[in-house]
Amino acid sequence: MKMFQKALASTQVFLFFCVVVFSTPPEDPIRCSSGNTSCTITNSYGMFPDRSICHASQVLYPTTEQELVSMVASAVRSKTKMKVATRFSHSIPKLVCPEGENGVLISTKYLNKIVKVDVEARTITVESGVTLKDVISEAAKAGLALPYAPYWWGLTIGGLMGSGAHGSTLWGKGSSVHDYVVNLRIVRPAAPQEGYAKVEILHEQHEDLNAAKLSLGVLGVISQITLKVEGIFKRSITYVAKNDSDLGEQVASFGYAHEFGDITWYPSQRRAVYRVDDRVPINASGNGLYDFIPFRPIPSLALALLRTTEDVQESAGDADGKCISAKATTTTLVTSAYGLTNNGIIFTRYPVIGFQNRLQASGTCLDSLKDAKITACAWDSRVKGEFFHQTTFSIGLSVVKDFIEDVQKLVELEPKGLCGLDLYNGILMRYVKASNAYLGKQEDALDFDITYYRSKDPMSPRLYEDIVEEIEQIGIFKYGGLPHWSKNRNLAFEGAIKKYKNAEKFLRVKEKYDSEGVFSSTWTDQMLGLKDGVTIVKDGCALEGLCICSQDSHCNPSRGYYCRAGKVYKEARVCTHLKSQ
Ligand SMILES: Cc1cc2nc3c(=O)[nH]c(=O)nc-3n(C[C@H](O)[C@H](O)[C@H](O)COP(=O)(O)OP(=O)(O)OC[C@H]3O[C@@H](n4cnc5c(N)ncnc54)[C@H](O)[C@@H]3O)c2cc1C
Ligand SMILES: *[C@@H]1O[C@H](CO)[C@@H](O)[C@H](O)[C@H]1NC(C)=O
Ligand SMILES: *[C@@H]1O[C@H](CO)[C@@H](O)[C@H](O)[C@H]1NC(C)=O
Ligand SMILES: *[C@@H]1O[C@H](CO)[C@@H](O)[C@H](O)[C@H]1NC(C)=O
Repeated sequence: MKMFQKALASTQVFLFFCVVVFSTPPEDPIRCSSGNTSCTITNSYGMFPDRSICHASQVLYPTTEQELVSMVASAVRSKTKMKVATRFSHSIPKLVCPEGENGVLISTKYLNKIVKVDVEARTITVESGVTLKDVISEAAKAGLALPYAPYWWGLTIGGLMGSGAHGSTLWGKGSSVHDYVVNLRIVRPAAPQEGYAKVEILHEQHEDLNAAKLSLGVLGVISQITLKVEGIFKRSITYVAKNDSDLGEQVASFGYAHEFGDITWYPSQRRAVYRVDDRVPINASGNGLYDFIPFRPIPSLALALLRTTEDVQESAGDADGKCISAKATTTTLVTSAYGLTNNGIIFTRYPVIGFQNRLQASGTCLDSLKDAKITACAWDSRVKGEFFHQTTFSIGLSVVKDFIEDVQKLVELEPKGLCGLDLYNGILMRYVKASNAYLGKQEDALDFDITYYRSKDPMSPRLYEDIVEEIEQIGIFKYGGLPHWSKNRNLAFEGAIKKYKNAEKFLRVKEKYDSEGVFSSTWTDQMLGLKDGVTIVKDGCALEGLCICSQDSHCNPSRGYYCRAGKVYKEARVCTHLKSQ
């Protein structure tokens, strides 16, 4: 059995790396049955947390701000619900769904022009549908660079701002892109005498910018954004693997010591990989490139094999198999430097030194050379591949050590309990800084990104379901973690708005900009604490994170999973597998 598992693990790793160049671009998240009417929208994973499908009566594609104003005006006049959609739709929660069947989607797909690159002022002005990839490359052509950004470049500027996306730093204004916005144009509803819609121009000193730069899309449609950038610079990256015994002690000082540092934690392996990442002089030699392996095109056949293996391990309760696969995956990623190369071709040694625009983000699985499903992004819902939950929250640096130690206590009690995370590259820990955005980070914090198996069957429990559920509840409720607005399962948003000291100010701006709520839906109202019902109570709801279990039926007693207290955090209520009941 052990031999077989080892062979399987190495096959997995081999397939994982035999990446070919033919890739399929992701599917358009919007589908219409006739022309641009009678549409459905989903996210890039093809599944919302509650597995519902969202509808819209039509999708509109403005190409200029002027067209956008008239589209918003006509929807406001007829009191039609609207939502902004992007070409990617990467948000997991239902942010993009208009209410009911008759809403309208306004896509930023063709609002994709670079408006101005100002080398003197060190700013770049773009339309909101421009991708992060294009911002990075256009800035670089002018010798400029966005200092901090998400690691995946397949996001639009409007979408990543809309949900508070970030990279990792405690330096400068922090790692959230919205904190580098110096000017923004937003098309919002207006009174009939003003023509039902108007453009609001918000510069750095305007108070409303604190609402509009992280808005969940409920204030109107951002048409244009000006970001503060810097002169291009070089970085030096070295990954250092250590055991995790002193991780809790290390995290705060590590964050302040290294400008772009982050940590990938593999708790079941008791290992942490520190990314020692700093700015170096522009004449330091090196032309490194970061092409992160999990964001490369992966052969569909490999994806299917990996998924089948995980499905089998899950249904057979094969914890050892998962731990072996996990170790093999991690070892391969670490020895191949996660996709870093010294010169764009090969990795020979640390440090990897190179220009910011070649190191800050990647996503080669988006490039399409051929329209066949030979390779895809790992989570592409058209092929059998990854299907997962993502729990992501940030914990204040003042208590983060205690959180890490609680997770370590759980690993002591269940040593194999977290192997499953490592198949999705462990827990990614990134630094975020307090922001003046009303819905932004409230204090300097460490963001934990946890990805784990989701079954296609909503009633099917996971291996060590209880351990990850307990970590989710420890992070979010015991330590008051702030959930990432565009990730997470419903329960993470329970009471979340109360953690924002300026939530009232945000709601006042929302009332001022859109008093009829045409840009709001039941889901955004629930997220903002205006309506109850963030969690959904029904049989099996805790398995999908739609609720916190309060009775056994919220788990799955027929499969041996019952609602019980947590092991370390007694207030947690989790679905625990009881062997003899
Ligand atoms: C592979 C991958 C890697 C990721 N890496 C990171 C990371 O490193 N860091 C991080 O923080 N997050 C990361 N994310 C999450 C990502 O930041 C969010 O999914 C992102 O917000 C989605 O951007 P989008 O362009 O797909 O926007 P959508 O999901 O389509 O939209 C997000 C929200 O913004 C609103 N919106 C969009 N455009 C506008 C506009 N013009 N005006 C007003 N509202 C608008 C939408 O209505 C919606 O409410 C990652 C996601 C994936 C899939
Ligand atoms: C749908 O909208 C796009 C973008 O505006 C346009 O090119 C296309 O012709 C429209 N399709 C139909 C059938 O009207
Ligand atoms: C972890 O590493 C430290 C040195 O960095 C060492 O002192 C300690 O013994 C190690 N702990 C374990 C459990 O291996
Ligand atoms: C880089 O430039 C500085 C001064 O401009 C010089 O002192 C240094 O030696 C240079 N370093 C390299 C690696 O060329």
